[in-house]
Amino acid sequence: MKPVLHKHNIELSDKAQHIEFVSMIEDLWDHPYVLELDGFGQHLNTSRRQHSLNVAYYAYRMSKRFDLNVQDAVRGALLHDLYHYDWRTEQPVAGRHVNVHPNQALENARKITEVSEVMADCIVNHMWPMGEGKPQSKEAWIVQASDKLCALLEITTQIAHKAAHLNLAPMMVGILLFVK
Ligand SMILES: [Fe+2]
Ligand SMILES: [Fe+2]
Repeated sequence: MKPVLHKHNIELSDKAQHIEFVSMIEDLWDHPYVLELDGFGQHLNTSRRQHSLNVAYYAYRMSKRFDLNVQDAVRGALLHDLYHYDWRTEQPVAGRHVNVHPNQALENARKITEVSEVMADCIVNHMWPMGEGKPQSKEAWIVQASDKLCALLEITTQIAHKAAHLNLAPMMVGILLFVK
């Protein structure tokens, strides 16, 4: 399976140019801890697993462009939101969500793979500047930027999609009757 860009979302399909990206995440992508993220919404209808893939893919493109540690940036990005609760309704650990969930994600990431220093930096500091930590490596700067970019794209494309499918006819009739 290889990823392609589809609207704001990345999909795993058969594009040969993305073999490298997939090879960096394939041991994690179908891991039960990562699969479980499908059960949580992240931004509107984008699941946390899809969001994680989106962030990983943009981190891949950016870290490659700047000749950084691509593998650590991608794997850190994929695991940056690896927590299993709905932060809107649950708070299993005391504290502010922006500070708590990156540490939860790091704890979970360490249960399923080896986590390098750079990966840990990408995960725990992705909430900068809202969270407590600040990225220490260039890879972590890229992951926090990719996270924000993806959140923006995920939300705006869905709103635009909804607006394009709104039936404006009844509203227009109402306006015409009102101004008459
Ligand atoms: Fe997060
Ligand atoms: Fe995120």
